[in-house]
Amino acid sequence: MKLLKIKQSIQRKIVFIAIFFSLVSFQLSADNIQMKKNINDITKIYMSSMTYIFKSQSIINQKNVDKSSLFGDAFIENIKQTYSVKYNEDFPKADHLAKKMLLQVMVEVMDDNKELIHDNEIGFKGVIPATYASQLSAKLATKGIGLTIKFTRTEKGIRNILNKPDAWESAVMEKMKTTPDIYYDENALLNGKAAIRQFTPLPMAPLCLGCHGVPGQNPLNVGKDKSQWTTIDITGFEMENWTIDDFGGGVSISIEKSVLQ
Ligand code: HEC
Repeated sequence: MKLLKIKQSIQRKIVFIAIFFSLVSFQLSADNIQMKKNINDITKIYMSSMTYIFKSQSIINQKNVDKSSLFGDAFIENIKQTYSVKYNEDFPKADHLAKKMLLQVMVEVMDDNKELIHDNEIGFKGVIPATYASQLSAKLATKGIGLTIKFTRTEKGIRNILNKPDAWESAVMEKMKTTPDIYYDENALLNGKAAIRQFTPLPMAPLCLGCHGVPGQNPLNVGKDKSQWTTIDITGFEMENWTIDDFGGGVSISIEKSVLQ
């Protein structure tokens, strides 16, 4: 009799422990889904802002035109529209600190460039997706919220040393040479802290080669004799002789887990 009772009690404990662990793992996978959604939203918001900067090149560089679409709420509104067109879905809610901070920093970066963008003496302002990206990365780093965004490429021939990949990014890019797909890692480290990281490759396009390709593709050399060609692109960097088959690099986003919880 006594033995039966002990047996029943052990069984109850086992059932209890099993339920407890399945609930914990259910909670963990729900957290993972939420983390994945957050980092995905952040990547897409960021990519939309890069696309919008690209589309706005003529407004940025023209003289005496209304440039209010590039600043403040109007800028965010345009990024939201770009997002809806690009991904065919509604813009995500800014329901997380990291998303809110990203939107704020995007506006701050444009405000920092306000004087330059309105300068009627300078023709080409150099406010292109890549420079906007590196300014955004630098500003985000000062906010100390554990969100890191980087526009990067394989270390050899990197333009801006600040965009240099870390070991995780280098390893991921190595994989991407054969499978260029979004890479997600929910158990990564960033500066020694647990983080989720996502790398989104950027497809190479003919327009990239106007700056990163060979001098013959540089718009500054059009109609000039070969002896007059420059190897410096319109942004002042030495061209790297990339080809359309080269790896275009990509966007690397990391969020410390402590921030997401
Ligand atoms: C108008 C010239 C121009 C065009 C066009 C251009 N880039 Fe760049 N790119 C730059 C400049 C300038 C930087 C350095 C920005 C910085 O960090 O200050 C850069 C940086 C980068 C980086 C970051 C790594 C590094 O070397 O610093 C990647 C990756 C990159 N470009 C890929 C591309 C791809 C892919 C395209 C086409 C979709 C493209 N670029 C089009 C000028 C250009």
